[in-house]
Amino acid sequence: MAMYLNVPTNEAYKLLNAGPVIILSTSDMEEHLNLTPISWHSPVDFDPVTKILLVTDIKNKAFFNILETGKFVICIPHATQVKLVKDLGSCSGFKENKLEKFQVEYALSEKCQFAVPNGTIAYIECKKLRVIEEDAVAIIIGEVIFAKAIKGSYRDRLISEKEAGKTLHHLGKDIFFQPGDLVE
Ligand SMILES: Cc1cc2nc3c(=O)[nH]c(=O)nc-3n(C[C@H](O)[C@H](O)[C@H](O)COP(=O)(O)O)c2cc1C
Repeated sequence: MAMYLNVPTNEAYKLLNAGPVIILSTSDMEEHLNLTPISWHSPVDFDPVTKILLVTDIKNKAFFNILETGKFVICIPHATQVKLVKDLGSCSGFKENKLEKFQVEYALSEKCQFAVPNGTIAYIECKKLRVIEEDAVAIIIGEVIFAKAIKGSYRDRLISEKEAGKTLHHLGKDIFFQPGDLVE
């Protein structure tokens, strides 16, 4: 049998948590748009799979905004947007207007009218269903109300083997990767 090495229990999540980084697009009631990178998210419930959960620090402006408006947009950045993701994760919308500070070029999402950075692969608009607080974080469950993907990135599934569908994945610290070839 192959030799397995111990992984500390508080690091075991790193073996699972390699889904795409998202940029959570929100707004407060004064229409200050904000963008927040998030790695921890998952689909919830079966048939139809239209519920999504996010895990966010309750100190994040994104969390405050979602409580205020009841809406959020999940933007899926392209692998080439790693600098944008790092920049947006480096400060809080409570202190800075990140869209201005990082000169983010964006369009507005169709339903919520929240910022979708140019170049992102897709976006998913959601309305808040439920919030579960757990110590310093909150699990937000949302229902998908509308979604769009850039041409060439999606047909029945994400086309991650083609350039248009190369999502960005976070391995911790400053390390990211993009998907490679299909395995058949
Ligand atoms: C790649 C990456 C992934 C992150 N994932 C999460 C996450 O899953 N949950 C979270 O609360 N914060 C996460 N963060 C940290 C927030 O993006 C960061 O604290 C941000 O400044 C909060 O911004 P806001 O206060 O404007 O919402 C992540 C940051 C980066 C760069």
